[in-house]
Amino acid sequence: MKVLGILGSPRIGGNSDILLEQALTGARDAGAEVEKIILCYQKISGCLNCEKCNETGLCAIKDDMLEIHNKILEAEALIHSVPVYFWSMTAQMKAYLDRWCAFFDAEWRWHKFYYPKMKGKKIALITVCGDPDVSTADPIVHSLKTTCDFTKLKWIGAVMASASTKGEIAKNESAKKEAYALGQKAATL
Ligand SMILES: Cc1cc2nc3c(=O)[nH]c(=O)nc-3n(C[C@H](O)[C@H](O)[C@H](O)COP(=O)(O)O)c2cc1C
Repeated sequence: MKVLGILGSPRIGGNSDILLEQALTGARDAGAEVEKIILCYQKISGCLNCEKCNETGLCAIKDDMLEIHNKILEAEALIHSVPVYFWSMTAQMKAYLDRWCAFFDAEWRWHKFYYPKMKGKKIALITVCGDPDVSTADPIVHSLKTTCDFTKLKWIGAVMASASTKGEIAKNESAKKEAYALGQKAATL
């Protein structure tokens, strides 16, 4: 069982990172092999909608997303962690998500060679926003959960937390506990 953590914040050691580490610890404690990808260290350009992947399943852009596609295919569960930037996800996370396009054909069906590896893959999300009202992150949850529903991936839940300054979330024991439990769920369901 492999669990892949995907960090969408450029603030390493920040709030999303702390909660992702909690989730990956939960997954590891449940017996999973874990790996973390820090998106801001990767070169990931935006999708060009060139439609070349519709036939081949391979993205025409030759950057780090090609290796990330392979890591996604090999993992049983993906845990994304991202802060809210302007009521939405960060640019790094959006570029990553848009490049999922390569997995689909022109009718947004999984390419048949990817489907056996993607079918039922577990998807989880952690959000952090500066706003005390965590529903500020609802658009990110909507984006990822709807993607899962549309493509028959297995949505396993979201942890939504609030914090502003770097590392502030470390004081929030309940958010850390929730993130740990989400990681365990990713590794065991
Ligand atoms: C460019 C930028 C835009 C932001 N926009 C929002 C926002 O729209 N709503 C909000 O609640 N917080 C917003 N924040 C605050 C971050 O979500 C918050 O500081 C969060 O804890 C950062 O998480 P991190 O430490 O994982 O990077 C913004 C921060 C930055 C840098």
